[in-house]
Amino acid sequence: MRARTVTAKKAKIMTDTAPKTQPPQTQVPERPDPETQASVPVELGERSYDIKIASGLLHQAGEMIKDRLGQRKCAIITDENIAPLHLGKLQKSLEQAGLSHDVLILPPGEATKNFTPFANACETLLQMQIERGDLIIAFGGGVVGDFAGFAASILRRGMDFVQIPTTLLAQVDSSVGGKTGINTKQGKNLVGCFHQPRLVIIDTDVLHTLPQRELRAGYAEVVKYGLIDDPVFFAWLEEYGPRLLTGDEQARIYAIATSCRAKARIVALDEREGGVRALLNLGHTFGHALEAFAQYDGSLLHGEGISIGMVMAFELSEQLGYCQKDATSQVEAHFKSVGLPTRVTDLPHKPGPSASQLLATMAQDKKVVGGKLVFIMAHDIGESFVDKSVPMDALANYLEGQCCT
Ligand code: GLY
Repeated sequence: MRARTVTAKKAKIMTDTAPKTQPPQTQVPERPDPETQASVPVELGERSYDIKIASGLLHQAGEMIKDRLGQRKCAIITDENIAPLHLGKLQKSLEQAGLSHDVLILPPGEATKNFTPFANACETLLQMQIERGDLIIAFGGGVVGDFAGFAASILRRGMDFVQIPTTLLAQVDSSVGGKTGINTKQGKNLVGCFHQPRLVIIDTDVLHTLPQRELRAGYAEVVKYGLIDDPVFFAWLEEYGPRLLTGDEQARIYAIATSCRAKARIVALDEREGGVRALLNLGHTFGHALEAFAQYDGSLLHGEGISIGMVMAFELSEQLGYCQKDATSQVEAHFKSVGLPTRVTDLPHKPGPSASQLLATMAQDKKVVGGKLVFIMAHDIGESFVDKSVPMDALANYLEGQCCT
């Protein structure tokens, strides 16, 4: 097996600025171990669950749900994009397992994740006579997962739900870890709660119908795990990430399983984001501000926003003296190589956002603690840390330099 050497610093998750140590050298395998399926446990005591990953799992979803959660009446929540493509397979699988079900089909897109559509959906589910012991199945991307999970958390004072994510982004991030919620005028995901699913079923086949732009946007979340604390994975992605985008099944399963393992490990350490879970927000404070500027109208996908946001996080880290310039260039080069945007000036909007606009939105972000912004900064690729002391003037100066409106 051909191998190449990179500097590997994977190990502990850092939560604060820490002195750098000389890392050991390690070998990056040319190909991952052949993995055709994976099962990743999320260890949360009585709220523990598994993430099942393989091609074709949709056909087994009914049996998997029945084996683990028993005979339940189900309510599938999905959207108008997914329903014509994949709903029939899921329904057939539930029927074969003897699980009766109702279906609620939502309009696609971020605009659905709002109070009025949410209230309407809750009333529809109650009209369907959903009971506390029934099961909600979130069958779609991040919007459907967050929306359906939040509905499950409050309907009948809390119901079980299963995540069957259909976008790469939802498969590697939003379906795992129990964050649920909706948006408000003030920003993204500001109303919601933690409510863990009982099972996550990831069928990689559904990615075949995902538009390339969506796939690329989800890929930004995959890269995030390498940047947080796994430089070996980042090196692997530099080499093989493009194959994942062009449909290499083995690369997809390896990348999704590696991402889910990383997320499961962090969530198990810090379920409610009191500490290390904040690392999963690398690039998100910048990214959310850009998404708010773009008004969630589809002109900037979440993954595109955080691709720009992660480059910004590295560059600001560099300007604050935490990180070397070559790390920022390497991160940017990788995102560019797969066609992701990396700069505020890459936004399709002309004029783009002003620095003060972005700062105002960031001040509403959930990552504000005691009036101070909490940022995820980096010493290097795979060496991210939580920083509660980014000076406001340094941030404002940096944004001024980025926003040529
Ligand atoms: N998407 C970040 C988290 O789940 O914490």
